[in-house]
Amino acid sequence: MIEIKNLSKEFKAPSDEKGLFGKKKKPFWAVKNFDFKIEKGKVASILGPNGCGKTTTLRMIAGMLTPTRGTAFVDGIDVRKDKHSVKAKIGYMTNNTSLYDRLNVIETIKFFAELNQIPKDVYESRANRLFKQLDMEDYLTKRIADLSTGMKQKTSIVRTLIHNPDIVILDEPTTGVDVTGQSVIVDLIKTIKESGKTLIFSTHQLNEVRDIADHIIVMKSGEKVFDGNNIEFQNLDPNKSFTEIFMEMVDD
Ligand SMILES: Nc1ncnc2c1ncn2[C@@H]1O[C@H](COP(=O)(O)OP(=O)(O)OP(=O)(O)O)[C@@H](O)[C@H]1O
Ligand SMILES: [Mg+2]
Repeated sequence: MIEIKNLSKEFKAPSDEKGLFGKKKKPFWAVKNFDFKIEKGKVASILGPNGCGKTTTLRMIAGMLTPTRGTAFVDGIDVRKDKHSVKAKIGYMTNNTSLYDRLNVIETIKFFAELNQIPKDVYESRANRLFKQLDMEDYLTKRIADLSTGMKQKTSIVRTLIHNPDIVILDEPTTGVDVTGQSVIVDLIKTIKESGKTLIFSTHQLNEVRDIADHIIVMKSGEKVFDGNNIEFQNLDPNKSFTEIFMEMVDD
């Protein structure tokens, strides 16, 4: 279960005003008074235009960024009070997860598995299953530096899942991945759901949302503009496609 209450983050951004040492920085709310609740075992999708605050929200839930106001609860644990327990429960993939260029795919996964103190036989069988499912078997001994964007993305996904977290947070898992790769990742999300885990992912692909999300959350300029299920989203206008409904929702 993931619940956020009044979650807000204020950042400072450069403004046109000149200060003594160059441009002044003006505070703005990247995420503002955001509330939602994702039930255990559900797949939720978070949508919205570039810069609307999706990554900032996911980072706060994962305990990577401290909220300015409000908080997030992960299986009832308040991230403000116990970020370490939250991190242990979560598998979090950012859209720029750093991997070590000099390691190959297998060494990368081994490194993170050992960091999480997972026994060899446990992580090896888990990794092999994921490599097979994500169709990665041809490049397991290639160095990260030599991988394509999509191959790196899949490696990041395996890394995120290697400690078998109860809660999975994926920030744009299919961005930069080819069409076949996207469908492989969508299938993996379905498998994750079947295993009873709670999953939240951000995306710009409305077809993925329609196919796999139980719960849809739309943001615009840091605030929530929709929170409901697939049917409720479609019922906003039964004659329109998901993309059309979404575009009207976030249009200025
Ligand atoms: N560390 C930071 N310092 C200042 N501003 C930031 C910081 N991180 C994010 N922002 C700003 O906060 C806003 C929300 O950014 P965020 O990355 O959460 O958007 P997003 O919805 O994930 O966008 P995208 O779809 O492009 O990934 C943007 O205006 C961004 O420039
Ligand atoms: Mg983002």
